[in-house]
Amino acid sequence: MADRNGGSLYSIGLLSWKSLIALLSLALTVFVLSWSLLLNSGRYQFIDQNLFPHLKHYNPLFIDHDQQASLKVFMYDLPSEFHFELLDWKPDGDTPWPDIRSEVPEYAGGLNVQHSVAYWLTLDLLASEFDNAGGRYAIRVHNSSEADVIFIPFFSSICFNRFSRLNAHKKTNTNKELQKKLVTYVTGQPEWKRSGGIDHVIAAHHPNSLLDARMQLWPAMFILSDFGRYPPTIANINKDVIAPYKHIIKSYVNDSSGFDSRPILLFFQGAIYRKDGGFVRQEIFYLLQKEKDVHFAFGSVKKQGIPSATKGMQSSKFCLNIAGDTPSSNRLFDAIASHCVPVIISDDIELPFEDVIDYSEFCIFVRTSDALKEKFLINFIRRIGRDEWTRKWEKLKEVEHFFEYQYPSEKGDAVQMIWRSVGKKVPVIKRRLHASRRFSRFGKPARKASFPLPRNLLS
Ligand SMILES: *[C@@H]1O[C@H](CO)[C@@H](O)[C@H](O)[C@H]1NC(C)=O
Ligand SMILES: *[C@@H]1O[C@H](CO)[C@@H](O)[C@H](O)[C@H]1NC(C)=O
Repeated sequence: MADRNGGSLYSIGLLSWKSLIALLSLALTVFVLSWSLLLNSGRYQFIDQNLFPHLKHYNPLFIDHDQQASLKVFMYDLPSEFHFELLDWKPDGDTPWPDIRSEVPEYAGGLNVQHSVAYWLTLDLLASEFDNAGGRYAIRVHNSSEADVIFIPFFSSICFNRFSRLNAHKKTNTNKELQKKLVTYVTGQPEWKRSGGIDHVIAAHHPNSLLDARMQLWPAMFILSDFGRYPPTIANINKDVIAPYKHIIKSYVNDSSGFDSRPILLFFQGAIYRKDGGFVRQEIFYLLQKEKDVHFAFGSVKKQGIPSATKGMQSSKFCLNIAGDTPSSNRLFDAIASHCVPVIISDDIELPFEDVIDYSEFCIFVRTSDALKEKFLINFIRRIGRDEWTRKWEKLKEVEHFFEYQYPSEKGDAVQMIWRSVGKKVPVIKRRLHASRRFSRFGKPARKASFPLPRNLLS
């Protein structure tokens, strides 16, 4: 009896054990399936799509099978004096924009092009209206209520480059005047009033561009080269986007060089004596000047001539990037375009697209304090052998596309990568926007936010 009881108990146990396993595996399957769906569908699947109709199109399962997301951008129709007129283009008719199907105004001159990001982004938005080539991340919309972000198409860098010299008669210059006008224009728009500027995007790639307006427009997202001249409250990696410099040196097409065919071990191009923080360059120059396979080319790429800089970087295994008066410089991007493995000595540098690019795969980072030790840097670099160098060189050829500004833009180039970075900040914008509305029923705050002024505003 006890046996039978035990037996039946046992078989009941066996039965429920079996169904338990079946249930468990079913649950596991559902769990795995739902996770893979979640992971495949991008981050916006985590929230109820109906809550945020604006975000619906982020879901690539519904919209784009290319794992691409699209960003809806409303662009102010700023008068052309803020953008293409700064490149000597003249408007014709009542649109402030050139018809880029027939004519694309060229960027103005020489080294200025390194900070031309606003120009490429604007061209890309204009092109999004007639060119549906694959891989486009941002599209221009004309109804700002439907937009994820509001773009301010001010070519601030070329404005600084060309028009910051003081006018002899007035105590001001075009650069200052335009910024003042811009602040008046933008802060008067219903879009700005609606969000306090939090969902606005503006490029200020030259470290001195937008110097006056940044203090008024800072709730917006900035597209910058680095944060060197910004107080952390005005610009930071949470809120803003770091964009690459456009390289000055031509891409090394069909590079069949190798470790042994690049005779120069280490190449440096640039000014040795800099205003701020540039003492490191000087020290490193003294440490390295006696090494015969290290090449120092003083002065800018322009002074040296682009052909000689190109030849220098393409003949070198490693290219030095030392912080100058700002943490970043275009030299890094020239090195990448030349497939010269960058050696970065800049403790505070911020790098573009670092959420998807692991720079340690193709760059060498050395702490400033180490680089200043006698023989440290040169011994360290000499110890990097052919295999490691070749791996980095191969990787450089894979990633160079991310740093290419071009029109028309192509999938995965600098233009698309910047829009992608902007798109990734949309949830941050939403959070800031919602947080800013907590006390909105009580009106504007009595005290203004206070923050330290940037160094270059104090001097
Ligand atoms: C703009 O979009 C909003 C939200 O979709 C809509 O309510 C409004 O009617 C649109 N305005 C125009 C002029 O189409
Ligand atoms: C690079 O190689 C390809 C294929 O061999 C060739 O068609 C192209 O002209 C080369 N480009 C340059 C700039 O040498």
